[in-house]
Formats: sequence, structure tokens, C-alpha cells
Amino acid sequence: MCGIVGYAGRREAQPILLDCLKRLEYRGYDSAGIAVAGKGLQLFKSKGEIAVLESKMPRMPGTVGIAHTRWATQGKPTTENAHPLDDCSHRLAIVHNGIISNFMGLKESLVKDGHRFASETDTEVFAHLVESELKGDLVDAVSKALRQVEGTYAFAVVAADRSEIVATRRESPLVVGLGEGENFLASDVTALLKYTNRVVYIQDDEVVRVTMDSVSIRGPSGELVEREAQKITWSLEDAEKGGYPHFMLKEIFEQPDAIHDSLLGRIETLETEPFFQGDSFTSVKVVACGTSYHAGLVGKYIIEELAKIPTTVQISSEYRYSPVARESPLVVLITQSGETADTLGAAREARKRGNKTVGIANVVGSAITREVDHVIYTRAGPEIGVAATKTFATQLAALYLLAMDLGVQNRVLTAQAKRSITGSLRNLPRAVQDVLNQAHLIEALANKYSGAKDMFFIGRGINYPVALEGALKTKEISYVHGEGFPAGELKHGPLALISKESPVVAIAVKDHTYERMLGNISECSARGSPVIAVAFEGDTEIAKYVDDTIRVREIPPIFAPVPIIVVLQLWAYYLAKAKGCPIDKPRNIAKTVTVE
Ligand code: G6P
Repeated sequence: MCGIVGYAGRREAQPILLDCLKRLEYRGYDSAGIAVAGKGLQLFKSKGEIAVLESKMPRMPGTVGIAHTRWATQGKPTTENAHPLDDCSHRLAIVHNGIISNFMGLKESLVKDGHRFASETDTEVFAHLVESELKGDLVDAVSKALRQVEGTYAFAVVAADRSEIVATRRESPLVVGLGEGENFLASDVTALLKYTNRVVYIQDDEVVRVTMDSVSIRGPSGELVEREAQKITWSLEDAEKGGYPHFMLKEIFEQPDAIHDSLLGRIETLETEPFFQGDSFTSVKVVACGTSYHAGLVGKYIIEELAKIPTTVQISSEYRYSPVARESPLVVLITQSGETADTLGAAREARKRGNKTVGIANVVGSAITREVDHVIYTRAGPEIGVAATKTFATQLAALYLLAMDLGVQNRVLTAQAKRSITGSLRNLPRAVQDVLNQAHLIEALANKYSGAKDMFFIGRGINYPVALEGALKTKEISYVHGEGFPAGELKHGPLALISKESPVVAIAVKDHTYERMLGNISECSARGSPVIAVAFEGDTEIAKYVDDTIRVREIPPIFAPVPIIVVLQLWAYYLAKAKGCPIDKPRNIAKTVTVE
């Protein structure tokens, strides 16, 4: 969802802005633009990816500027609608991430007052509002304009002949990076890692003025806010491709380490430092979007099995607006970015309803961490590829830990059961490494089936949501129509779609559903569908039922989703590669969705 950056310093702003912006391209790539202030105001923008902007734009001398990469919401992805947007006098430029929900009414009255609009965007009203309010101080003008807008936003504003950037946010991320004789602004710290690791997170309704040697933050009532800088431990290397052709592949291969880091130290300390000291819960609700929602669905099985607590899972945008018939006293919000608008809204709603809230997040200091009672960080490192991979695996790691803790608090886990769970958790990185070692085989199979237009993914029990996630990965990056089903449901409708043109990927590990799974596989092959099984090593039976098999190490079935999802991630990756798709930047998708 749109990325914004800003720079104020001694160096030329344009190359730095462009460099930072490229690291935010995962947030949107419909159009890009840049504005450099100082002597006058220079503005250049273009439809398409940042590379298009870079190839066309002239040199723009000056040491203060802002830039934007867009994921279109209001207004088509055209050059006119690209940011920065300016005012009637062309002396103000604005970049925006979010949505101004009352822009229609504001636009009407601004037009009546004589303002001329050049785009279809909601953002442009803000440029004209600031223009109307600008009498001297830019912070004052932005603050006054803010009082008139409703919605979610991170704005950054520059003005001709001024060497400052004024920025603000509400429910959209904004971070200031602190340098020596230079300061930065961005939607995400990964954009800034090359330049600084000292950052200050701006909070809702604060207005910040950034110049080359100062950063001053004002609170909602105009009071000066003092906030300590945070040190980011992620390195620039973490946010670069490191020899891999795509971030997605790099991130898939980082999973053994990511899972290890996610579990590191926690298995040991859970006993002395539980997540919930003295709390026990009668039910749990997990709330999330997209891939994080699928992790939540797997989490339901994990929590119910390990902690014996009934668990329900809901999509954030549904939870927020659902009637409150019966509530769960513990609400777990999963969000890798920590910035997804619907999940943030759900967190607020959960608290308002009097529940205890836990966030499972990857980005330290992200907005969710301020909305929940307790945070479990997934410690996966930065994930740049739009398709979530290592963050999903580490969300599962966090859910195992959470379930174990809940099980201990609820006194349903014996010491022996705990020992066996922790042993299995420690082995997970190895089970994942085994899958990675077979990447060439998965690639060969993905190539074999890459001509298919439709593909079905089936699983039972805990592997049903894994099938959903496999289907999501496949459709989002390879554009093959992938659908996930609980295998037992095929006969209630989806079988009508099954044919020899539609390969079926069947998760068939030896658990209590195995025999039934074989039955469901036969239903598909009887209708001519090629079946590719994901099965345990040592399962000699499965080959009789299917066309191809991908093996994962035999581990207790409750942990099998972790290596299995890695198989399906590689499957989707190699399908997309075979089809020549833009793997790290799938069409129409943004990694972090900060609108509702
Ligand atoms: C977007 C991304 C998905 C992601 C979802 C939730 O839709 O494209 O990959 O799963 O947002 O993101 P979150 O940061 O809340 O986990």
C-alpha cells in the first residue's frame, strides 16, 4: 500500500530518495514520483514502476525532497494520479499513503472556493487544504488542514523555497531516520537501513518537522513531544537479495534460520517467563488477514490440540464489524507488518470489548505493538517479497509457543508432553532444510504442470489451512487459479471442476485422516486429474495412488504444516518462474495494506 520517503540533508536528495523508494516498491508499483524543494519546487512523476520514473526523470538539484510509490486506491494508476500532488500555485507537493474518506465533500467546497484539481485522487484535497491554510508556518498549515480530513494517512509535505519536510500520520506507518547532518522519513525502516539504524516512530496525530539537523515532533494539541530513538538491529544485507534472483526465493531459503531465531531462547524461558502469568482462558479468538489469517487457521488446530482451548478464527475486517454475541477473553492478532489497517482496527475493537489482546508481529515498533497488551515478535527479519513466506513459518513457530504456554497455564500439558513438543520444535529447522534440499525436484514438477490454468489444493485437519495457503501463494505469484479445499468437501461441489486439465496437490501425511485422504485422492484421479502428493518419507503406499510425490521428513503431524508449506511456497515460486511472472511484485497486490 503506497510507500513514502523523505530526505533533508547536505547531499543531493534525488538519488537518495530514489534509492530509499526502491526498497519500498513492495508496497505498490502503479506509479512513482519525486519532488525536490529548496530553490523553487521541482516535481516529476510517471505511471508504472520506479524504474520507469528513473529512466525518464531529469536531474533535480536540491537537498530536500519527498518521493512516493503508489498502489492505486482512489483514482486510476495514471501519471496524473501519481504522487506527489501539488496545489494550484505549484508551490506545495504532497505524498500520501492511506485514504481520505471525506474527500468528496472537501473537494466540492475547495472547487467552489476556486481551487483547480488536476487528478482524481483523494490526496489532492490535502494539497489544496494546506495551500489555503499556509500563512507562514508549514507545521501550522498542515495541522489546520488535518483538522478537516477524515480517514487514514501518512502525509509528507514540502514547499518551494523551504528546506524542511512536514509529515504526519494516522493509522498508516511513518518512521523518521536520524543521520549525521541529514534526516529521513519513510513508511518502513527497511527503506532507511543503508543510511541509518536510528529511528523514531511517529504516532497517530503527531506532526513532525524534519530538517537536515533537527527533528521536532508535536503532539495532537501542539505540545512538543520528546521520544527516544530506537536502534534497529536488521542489517542492510537482510533487506537485499544476496545473490538470489528474487527476494521470495531468498526468504524461502532463510526459513531454517528464521524459525530457529523465532524459537531461540523462548522454549527455555517459557517456564520462568510465561506470556500469561496466572491467566487461563476458556476460549481464544484469532484475528488476521491474508497469509496471517491462514496461520491463524493452523493456529486453531495447534491451540486446540496443545492447550485444549476452543479457538475460533476470523478475518480482521469481519471481526471488527461483527455483532458481539459471545466473546473470547483472549484475542490473538496476527500481522507480519503490524500495520494492516483492518487488523489494527480489530485490535482496538477487541480491547474495547474488554478482551486481553496478544499481537504476533514481525516488525518491531510497528503500530500493532501499541494496540495490544502483549507482543510476540516472530523475529523473521525483513520480508520484502510481496508473497509472505518466512513470516508465515515463524507465525506458526510463535503459535506453537503460545499454545504451549496456554497449555501450561491451563494445566493440560504434562512435563513429558512439553519435553516432546520442545524436541519437535527444535527439529523444525532441519525438517525445513530437507525440503529446501529438494528444491530442484520441486522445480522440475512445477515445470511439468506449469501449463495448467487451474489447480486444486486439498488437505484435512491441520493441513486444510495449509492447502489454502498453498493455493493463495500459487494464485498471487503465478496467476494460476489455485483453490484450496478441505478434502472431504470435494464431493459437495468442487468435484464438478475437477478434470485432467486441473492438477490436484494433495497433502497426505500419515495422521488420523490419512486413509480418508487416500479416498479423496482416488475421487480426483478417477476423474482424470493428475495428483501430486506431499507425503512423509517412508510412506510406501502413497505412490500407488498419485502421479508424483514430494516428500517431507516424518515428524509428529501437528508440526508437519511447517515443512509442508515450504514445499508449497517453492511450488508456487517455480510455477511463477516457469511462467515468467514478476515474482516479487505480483500485479494488483501490495504487501502492507494500510487501507480498510
Ligand atoms: C496483504 C499481503 C499479504 C498479507 C496480508 C496481511 O494482503 O499481500 O501477503 O498476508 O496483507 O498482512 P499482515 O502484515 O497483516 O500480515
